[in-house]
Amino acid sequence: ALVSRLRRGLLDWYDAHGRALAWRQGARDAYRVWLSEVMLQQTTVPHAAPYYEKFLTLWPTVRDLAAAEDGRVMAEWAGLGYYARARRLLECARVVVRDYDGIFPANEADLLKLPGFGPYTAAAVAAIAFDLPANVVDGNIERIMTRLYAIDTPLPAAKSDIRLAAAQWVLPERAGDWPQALMDMATLICRPKSPVCDQCPLAVACLALERGAPERFPVKLAK
Ligand code: ADE
Repeated sequence: ALVSRLRRGLLDWYDAHGRALAWRQGARDAYRVWLSEVMLQQTTVPHAAPYYEKFLTLWPTVRDLAAAEDGRVMAEWAGLGYYARARRLLECARVVVRDYDGIFPANEADLLKLPGFGPYTAAAVAAIAFDLPANVVDGNIERIMTRLYAIDTPLPAAKSDIRLAAAQWVLPERAGDWPQALMDMATLICRPKSPVCDQCPLAVACLALERGAPERFPVKLAK
């Protein structure tokens, strides 16, 4: 019951303060969600936003991208870095057109088989595009979970505990909004440095806060 009350509190916060990001506008479209997630694995929201707009203008659908010339896609990707990701993006677009008639499969297992997809991307597209209750865990959500539960095992060893913790919060009713609410909260409130705990909708349940040291989490192995 505590979890459901806190989830509602965070979703209320998201409805009021969530960011109006481009890929959240209009109908949910797997192509747009996928494109945004691949770019965001690479860079920050402010840096990715203009690339996202440019790609959608040049290639509004996965069919358009699949038909693009390789060199053109690489050229437009310049500035986002890590070209292997752009190559896999194009490869994935072509597989979706060839094997799925241009329609992304609406389940995590088939998404995971697509070029460039890892567990994070498959879960994010399943949740955000298809509203499936996938366990989406990125660095932002890792930070929230390690703080909530004061998980002090250093990363990456903590990853399985973090996944188990996050899974307890997955919300079937607003499966796509839930991870995005966490990401926005992690960016705006549960920040790596100087978290603003007095604004946090989850503060009453946060063990790291109770111990007076939210910034200590996540613990990373000394280099
Ligand atoms: N970072 C990665 N995916 C995101 C999303 N959908 N919203 C906000 N930040 C993100």
